Amino acid sequence: MSAQERVLSGFRPSGPLHIGHLVGALQNWVSLQDRYRCFYAICDWHALTSEYANTENLKEYVFQMALDWLTAGLDPDRSTLFVQSRVKEHAELHLLLSMIVPLGWLERVPTYKEQQQQMANRDLTNYGFLGYPVLQTADILAYKAQWVPVGEDQISHLELCREIARRFNSLYGEVFPEPQPKTTRVPRLPGTDGRKMSKSYGNAVYLSDPETEVRQKILTMVTDPARVRRADPGNPDICPVFTLHKAFSSQSTQDSVNVECRRAGIGCVDCKTMLLGHLNPILAPLREQRQALAQRPGHVRDILEQGAGKARQVAAATLEEVRDAVRI
Ligand code: TRP
Ligand code: SF4
Repeated sequence: MSAQERVLSGFRPSGPLHIGHLVGALQNWVSLQDRYRCFYAICDWHALTSEYANTENLKEYVFQMALDWLTAGLDPDRSTLFVQSRVKEHAELHLLLSMIVPLGWLERVPTYKEQQQQMANRDLTNYGFLGYPVLQTADILAYKAQWVPVGEDQISHLELCREIARRFNSLYGEVFPEPQPKTTRVPRLPGTDGRKMSKSYGNAVYLSDPETEVRQKILTMVTDPARVRRADPGNPDICPVFTLHKAFSSQSTQDSVNVECRRAGIGCVDCKTMLLGHLNPILAPLREQRQALAQRPGHVRDILEQGAGKARQVAAATLEEVRDAVRI
């Protein structure tokens, strides 16, 4: 684990980040900053693979994502934060890799068919969408990243990335390390309806939500369905509100909810109010910082441009090696 080992990860800019992203991914990314050389990319080309027909909000989403990242503690002095499409080397590497990736490998990636079915309202029979994991591989290999912090849903893409790296190395000589995923143990946060927190379910609490909205969302959140009346005992183990307590509340609050819910010593409104007592002090400074940053769009754009400059240097050096190896 040397400071020279590189980490790369990215998000598609598809809307504002919610507190599930904060706990699941961003806090992990933040903690890696001191131990590795970190590259974090806002992957706007990846957004295009499915949203090619709806680009009107894309630039705004990129900006919002930069605000969310900076607010969550990604630090441009310690990490390289940039927009994928500003570093053309990703596109060149994607093209070169596309030559050596058999179609069968791509058709077999589980997310390919799944997403086509889930987004049945879009035509996803396009070339770019099939190549999504090749582009992701280019993002990673352009920096020779050893580590890729991602959620469980990205494991199959990482496996493919390693296969592509191996195939490149065996055809042209050892250029790329085989990147490993770094998954977090934090469970996925439930949203207000108890399903996984997700923008598409409309059940998310956003980093950008005002306090009144956070309160309203938490107070209307589903609980243990067996607690119909205040006097009914509940079971925190199956209650999504309790999962949020585990992510945000102190141990003593968790312990007391765990006891009092089971003997109907507290009601769900009391319980949610306690949760807000822990959640609000975490979100308030973030919200304030986010608002302050939003007032300085030029500053945020400068950070991304400087990041792209730093990223380009590293990626350009890799591409020199790649062109040599391919003899082009
Ligand atoms: N596919 C990732 C996701 O949907 C986003 C992503 C793009 C990414 N490029 C990457 C993740 C490179 C890790 C490394 O979440
Ligand atoms: Fe859930 Fe809390 Fe209500 Fe128990 S008291 S059911 S943990 S919201």
